[in-house]
Amino acid sequence: MAIRVIRTDEDPILRKQSRVVKDINQRIVILLDDMIETMSDADGVGLAAPQVGVLKRVIITDVGEGVIEYINPEILETEGENCGIEGCLSVPEKSGKVIRPEKIKIKALNREGVEFEMTAEGLLARAICHEIDHLNGILFTDIMLPEEDDSEDVNEY
Ligand code: NI
Repeated sequence: MAIRVIRTDEDPILRKQSRVVKDINQRIVILLDDMIETMSDADGVGLAAPQVGVLKRVIITDVGEGVIEYINPEILETEGENCGIEGCLSVPEKSGKVIRPEKIKIKALNREGVEFEMTAEGLLARAICHEIDHLNGILFTDIMLPEEDDSEDVNEY
């Protein structure tokens, strides 16, 4: 495993669309392992492949209940609204309020290529939505509410 460099700020790769993974090969497995180590090293609660310079639809989360890996994640249903503070490992030193669904249902593939469905609420739902946005070139600063925020100890995704 290796820690990869997290792309930040104006890096154009953060604005590109990531591609669907067609073949879960050894490169994808290594990518996942490296992303886990990189997220942990950066003390993040989520990470998307484009943040380490790879335009593939691969994300991970760890909101304190263990790492979850998602390949080709898709949101199937959303419910409710939740306003919370977000930060991003790719947008250092910034944070802001973002409205996300309170609850989501998603499907994705695991590293064995098996499709799974899950529901997520609260912080985990927020993390998954933030990471899927990264796959579509969207940063939280694009959608945050235009209010000052000077929170400390903000979760970074
Ligand atoms: Ni982020």
